[in-house]
Amino acid sequence: MLMGAADQVRRIVTAPSRLLALRREVPVLRRDLAAERERSEDLRRRVRAARARIEQKDATIATQKLEIARLRARVHEAEATAATDTLPDEVVGRITAVTQEHLSYLKVPQLAALARAALDAEAQEVPGLFIEAGTARGGSAIVLAAAKSPERRLKVYDVFGMIPPPSDADGEDVHRRYEKITAGDARGVGGETYYGYRDDLYGEVTESFARHGLPVDASNVDLVQGYFEDTIHLDEPVALAHLDGDWYESTRTCLERIVPHLAVGGRLVVDDYFAWSGCRTAVDEYFADRPGFRRELHGRLHIVRT
Ligand SMILES: C[S@@+](CC[C@H](N)C(=O)[O-])C[C@H]1O[C@@H](n2cnc3c(N)ncnc32)[C@H](O)[C@@H]1O
Repeated sequence: MLMGAADQVRRIVTAPSRLLALRREVPVLRRDLAAERERSEDLRRRVRAARARIEQKDATIATQKLEIARLRARVHEAEATAATDTLPDEVVGRITAVTQEHLSYLKVPQLAALARAALDAEAQEVPGLFIEAGTARGGSAIVLAAAKSPERRLKVYDVFGMIPPPSDADGEDVHRRYEKITAGDARGVGGETYYGYRDDLYGEVTESFARHGLPVDASNVDLVQGYFEDTIHLDEPVALAHLDGDWYESTRTCLERIVPHLAVGGRLVVDDYFAWSGCRTAVDEYFADRPGFRRELHGRLHIVRT
């Protein structure tokens, strides 16, 4: 649009006065800029100070974590000593050796509690078999064999290969673990090869029993290879059963096949009740309407026939 003559005249007349006004604004703007610079410098100083404080706190936390780790190790050591205190030397020797050889997922206190259960069953003369369902590299079964009397039969059930898949009755925790296993990413105890990736687990476990002075045939131990659902068929009483099959179906099968044979005073040690959701569900379902059993806690859930 064409500018009118009057507008053009007004622009020419007002231009110098606007320039003057702008010039007057410059010092004010400079002051504002300086103040802004001061403020941002102050902010930078405060960020640096905060960072230094955080670094110091991180260092303190790292030191405290180290201290906690040291204390944990001492508590662990004290627990292990207390747990094994009243056990026979031979049993303590096996617990120490299988732990050093990474043959068991159970820690010293849990192996000691398992041995204690076996020794108590012997002392109380509870009739029947000892059973382990779920043995992997054999560590806990070797401890059971060391704690039992030579006459007592120990039946050790395991697929001695890859653990079977979980089912819908197992929770997310179990399915995540199984995915890791099938992806080839699982590590065994002490970072060693996971038991399910080993070529001849049955042969390894047989050898481990012998190396620990408990050759299976001479020690009244049967290693029974196959799925629990195909292999656990009992027709005699059971004094003690260590259930360590991890998942819902495995635990459920063990309960259905073993509990009806549990002698009075006989005991189940359920390794995974607090570790895997499916095992917990199987135990809670199975015992929901079954009187005549007492629950005890010895690091693991124990269930005793009363
Ligand atoms: C956690 S590991 C046992 C750990 C062992 N007690 C120890 O001292 O480290 C579980 C074992 O149970 C076996 N297992 C689980 N479900 C099974 C099933 N239905 N039949 C046979 N073996 C099974 C697995 O293959 C594995 O060897």
